[in-house]
Amino acid sequence: RTLNNFKNLRGTVDLLPDQLIKWQNVEKIILEQLFRASIKEIRTPILEMTELFMRGIGEGTDVVSKEMYTFLDRGERSCTLRPEGTASVARALIQNGLSNKPPQKLWYMGPMFRYERPQAGRQRQFHQLGVEFVGLDSLRSDVEIITLAWDILEKLGIKELNLEINTLGDNNDRLNFQKEFLKWLEANKKFLDLDSQKRIEKNPLRILDTKNVQTKKILEDAPRLFDFLSEKSLERYLNIKEQLKLLKIPYVENLNLVRGLDYYTHTAFEITSGSLGSQSTVCGGGRYDNLISQMGGIETPAIGFAIGLERLILLAGKDLDKKRETDIYIVNKGFQAEILALNLSRKLRNYDLVTELDLSGASFSKQFKKANKFKSKSIIVIGHNEALKNEFIIRLFNEESIENMEETISFEDVMKLDNWLDKNLLLKRSF
Ligand code: HAM
Repeated sequence: RTLNNFKNLRGTVDLLPDQLIKWQNVEKIILEQLFRASIKEIRTPILEMTELFMRGIGEGTDVVSKEMYTFLDRGERSCTLRPEGTASVARALIQNGLSNKPPQKLWYMGPMFRYERPQAGRQRQFHQLGVEFVGLDSLRSDVEIITLAWDILEKLGIKELNLEINTLGDNNDRLNFQKEFLKWLEANKKFLDLDSQKRIEKNPLRILDTKNVQTKKILEDAPRLFDFLSEKSLERYLNIKEQLKLLKIPYVENLNLVRGLDYYTHTAFEITSGSLGSQSTVCGGGRYDNLISQMGGIETPAIGFAIGLERLILLAGKDLDKKRETDIYIVNKGFQAEILALNLSRKLRNYDLVTELDLSGASFSKQFKKANKFKSKSIIVIGHNEALKNEFIIRLFNEESIENMEETISFEDVMKLDNWLDKNLLLKRSF
């Protein structure tokens, strides 16, 4: 294998500068929203003990049983590249004594890893924005979490979204249901697809969200978790739906929505978009009141969601692709001129301007062509003559009235430069 044969691993992608413009614009809008909602950032390691995910997410889930990137490190410890962020955040809060009071409102953004079959909108290394509210059990925290996810998607101009919600009840509700459901599953096993049959022992709840059409049909006659909810759980759920209505957040109830991770209790929700194709879920989340105590912390209610950033980027509008234009292109040639140009470009970084310093040493005409290619709004020219007089020429580029806009400015004359920039560029900022 020669060096130029190297390729990235299947299911991973390089994000190149032109693509990243959209990522950065999207991230900027998201971060603003989170900041304004007083949600603080948390960063946890990408690598964790394997045990954390086995216990946190559940051994019967697809994520843990089939999709984790797990390996022994040089000290023979089993490590896993995080497949999601919730278990890590829970661990970090417990370990740092932060899991209970006061409540924490946190976000994280970064790469996650799942060994899945890659396809459009599904990768092995992908990115999530996650938000977790820890220490809150009020109805309103459920409503706020759902609303936050919804508003982030709306702020990005994404339309035609569907919010599906369901409740998984508390542990007791689920145990009561599971007993009846297992009886029914055993009796109807032979009518189920193979995948669902396999799930009976490992993760029966997951059968509810099968994609198999025939199994779906048969499941219509199965006992429903909804009918096993305690009065308290039911009331909680009804109130959440009521509040969503009051806030005019449109939702559809999906009693088969169970989510792929084991830690959920009560509220579960997903936001999908038809324009994403088969991998249509852009956001998933729910309440996980037992996770923190299960992991050794004191009992702490919590709720959160994660948005898949690759899918979000696919959905976000074209206008977010727009890159910020170059404000000033610095054409320079000759030993002294080049030093002066370098120094001037440093000074210009004190302004909110995008400058491009030509480093080619090529002919003036070639440099002008480059400036043209960059569609720079203005241009600074420093040649041998300007350098001798310790000055530079600045003017709007490709402008008919060049004469009027052109100024020769001494390197000492900060005021004159300020004025020119103010008059010609700063007032025309695009962002
Ligand atoms: P999740 O449903 O497993 O939930 O993932 C959330 C989102 O991550 C999905 O809706 C999808 O947009 C994106 N995603 C998942 N797998 C892939 C993949 N292979 N390629 C591209 N995107 C993907 C969680 O991870 C929970 N931790 C969410 C949560 C936070 N629940 C409570 N707090």
